[in-house]
Amino acid sequence: MDTADERLHLLERLLADTKRDPGPRILVPAHLQPPPHEGPSIALPAPAGPRLALDDVLAERTSTRDYAPAAMSAEDLSALVAAADRMDARGWAGEREAGVGLELYCAAWRVTGVDTGLYRYLPEQSALRRVASLPSGAQAEELVLQREFAQAPALLVITGNLAGALARHGSHGHRLLLSRAGAAGHAAWLAALRLGLVGTVFAGLLPHVLRERVGADGYHRAPLFAFAAGHPAPEWTA
Ligand SMILES: Cc1cc2nc3c(=O)[nH]c(=O)nc-3n(C[C@H](O)[C@H](O)[C@H](O)COP(=O)(O)O)c2cc1C
Repeated sequence: MDTADERLHLLERLLADTKRDPGPRILVPAHLQPPPHEGPSIALPAPAGPRLALDDVLAERTSTRDYAPAAMSAEDLSALVAAADRMDARGWAGEREAGVGLELYCAAWRVTGVDTGLYRYLPEQSALRRVASLPSGAQAEELVLQREFAQAPALLVITGNLAGALARHGSHGHRLLLSRAGAAGHAAWLAALRLGLVGTVFAGLLPHVLRERVGADGYHRAPLFAFAAGHPAPEWTA
C-alpha cells in the first residue's frame, strides 16, 4: 500500500468509527469515573451580563496573551465558566447523562474575592471547590508551558473523562471529547469578549502539574484544553 492508499484507508476507518452505532445506551460504570474532589467550596456571584454585542466584538477577536495587572471580577469569572458549562450542557446533554463529563477548573491568581488557588467549578451549585494551592509570581510560571499564561488573572482548564468516552464510543470518543472541550473553551472566550476581556484558548498544558494538583491521570480525568483570560494590557486599549 502506498502512502496515499494508507491515508485513504485510515480516513475510511476513522469515518466508519465515527458512524459506528454505539448500540444500546452505554452508561459509564463507576470504576471509569474520575475520583471526586474533597475540599471547601465558595459560592460564585451571579454571572455578569454581557456589556458588548457579539457583532461588535467578533470582528476584532484575536488571540491575546498579554494582560493588564487588573484583577478579574468574580462576576466575570462566573460568566466565563457558566458559558463553558452551558455550551456543553446544551450540545452534549446525552453524553453527560451517560456519565461522560467535562470538568472545568479555574486557576485563579487575581480574581476579586477569590483566594489564589486552583478550583473545580461546580455548575449545579454555581460554586468553586478549592482543590489545590497555586504559587504566585515567578513560581507560577513553572506551572505553565508558556509563561505569559501565568500572568493572566485566571485560566479555565478543561478536562474530560477519556475512559468513559472510549468505553462508550471507541476511539471516536476521544475526538468527541476534544470537540466538546473546544466548544466549551470558545464559548468562554466569546463570553469574555462580550465582557470587554481578552484571552486565548490553548492546549499547551503541562500534564504533570494537573496530575499532581487535580489528580488528572490522563485517562479518567484527561487534560484537554484551556482558556486564559484577563483585561487587555494598556497597549491593546484604544
Ligand atoms: C487546539 C488548539 C490548541 C492551541 N494551543 C495553543 C498553545 O498551546 N499556545 C498558544 O499560545 N496558543 C494556542 N492556541 C491558540 C492558537 O494559536 C490561536 O487560536 C491561533 O493563533 C489563531 O490566532 P487568532 O485567534 O489571532 O486568529 C491553540 C488553539 C487551538 C485551537
